[in-house]
Amino acid sequence: MSKNIDWSKLGFAYMKTDLRYVSKWKDGKWDDGQLVEDNKLAISESSTALHYGQQCFEGLKVYRTKDGKIQLFRPDENAKRLNNSCRRVMMPDMPVEKFIDACVQVVKANADYVPPYGTGATLYLRPFVIGVGDNLGVKPAPEYLFVVFCVPVGPYFKGGMTPVNFTISEYDRAAPYGTGAAKVGGNYAASMYPHKLAVEKGYADCIYLDPLTHTRIEEVGAANFFGITKDDKFITPKSPSILPSITKYSLMYLAKEYLGMEVEERDVLVDNLDEFKEAGACGTAAVITPIGGIEYKGKLHVFHSEKEVGPITKKLYNTLYGIQFGDVEAPA
Ligand code: COI
Repeated sequence: MSKNIDWSKLGFAYMKTDLRYVSKWKDGKWDDGQLVEDNKLAISESSTALHYGQQCFEGLKVYRTKDGKIQLFRPDENAKRLNNSCRRVMMPDMPVEKFIDACVQVVKANADYVPPYGTGATLYLRPFVIGVGDNLGVKPAPEYLFVVFCVPVGPYFKGGMTPVNFTISEYDRAAPYGTGAAKVGGNYAASMYPHKLAVEKGYADCIYLDPLTHTRIEEVGAANFFGITKDDKFITPKSPSILPSITKYSLMYLAKEYLGMEVEERDVLVDNLDEFKEAGACGTAAVITPIGGIEYKGKLHVFHSEKEVGPITKKLYNTLYGIQFGDVEAPA
């Protein structure tokens, strides 16, 4: 029985669901893990996750198809990315099968929270690893927790598939060869103040430039950037300080294989936005959020339109959304 929730009104907000999965790493190994009702964690006040940011997280979605089935989208990719993040901040690997099994257990235990087909809403899974246990010096924790909880969600940006405007931030979110390519909380903590400034100026969020030269576009808030050139190429920035978005790589594949477009990962110069006729932000939470315009040095550069979604962005969205909800055949 589906929960009594107004699915169409959901935004991206926390709601306690029935069960979450918790596994502990101690003495060199993960325990069997279990589903628990309590959404509070009891951890040492000296946990490295609290003081030194030794933690990382993931985000993936679960979709209800037309015939009522439930499907996950590429969870193995999230497992691999979690392990890259874990290695960067010296936390133990989580075996891919254990990661997927934990996600499946959480989905099954909270199946009534998977939004019905046709509402556009999804069940968002939030797996994370934190360093816990007694410790004071800057060094890896003696113990770790791996948790997966879930929340039903609607669009990340209000309005979903309607264009929003962004401003270019003067601040950086992560340094090249720092932790930009790892999904660690510090990157997101660093984005909160620039986000606040952007919202105060009337924008949905801000865009980060490369920290070394401040000439190349890197990320759009907590999402990746893509642009469609006037000759129909799908372009997305390449940089060691960008989080490798699974949605972005899925779109690159779909642009090439389903829409027959040329695809390039390369520099995107903020002074050359004119090369694009459409642009968007992409990520698990954002899916595709069309970019209406980008404000830079006091001028708003509008792409397709501030009000309407461009035709290629729309096609990409429909293809991705169709695969995720089981309406379009997924690649073999
Ligand atoms: C995601 O797209 O899953 C994210 O991690 C973005 C944000 C909600 C942190």
